[in-house]
Amino acid sequence: MRIAVVHGPNLRLLGRREPEVYGTDTLDDVNERLEALASELGVQIETFQSNHEGELLDFIDEAAGRVDGFLINPGAFTHTSIALRDGLVGVDRPFVEVHLSNTAGRERFRRHSYLSPVASGVVYGFGVHSYLLGLRGLVARLAGR
Ligand code: DQA
Repeated sequence: MRIAVVHGPNLRLLGRREPEVYGTDTLDDVNERLEALASELGVQIETFQSNHEGELLDFIDEAAGRVDGFLINPGAFTHTSIALRDGLVGVDRPFVEVHLSNTAGRERFRRHSYLSPVASGVVYGFGVHSYLLGLRGLVARLAGR
């Protein structure tokens, strides 16, 4: 089983970006934790980050041919991007949406997600554990458990 982990805009700033909201783990730390869990679960992952909507769309399209599903933190595109939603639906692979912060408890504009209604599941509010829980959920879903 192979899964693509997609990090959206500004997530490369993790560690120094609003640490009181997003914690002090860097993006490399998050990816290392995911790699460790993936090998424990016996799955392969690849990771990708971009600040650009079109690059994210191109990656999803191109990666869909070699992966079984996506784990995605769409960052601010969560709240704005119909194109990202359409792209994920279009490649016909299950995906799990994750957020480090509790988006439901923050500004009003963060409460709406274009992706959540078409995601296999959503995990938010647990920092790096949102990714780890999301990976476990996606693997279970793909394994039909
Ligand atoms: C985020 C939440 C989004 O609202 C925000 O724009 C981000 C990060 C999170 O992981 O909590 O960039 O996706």
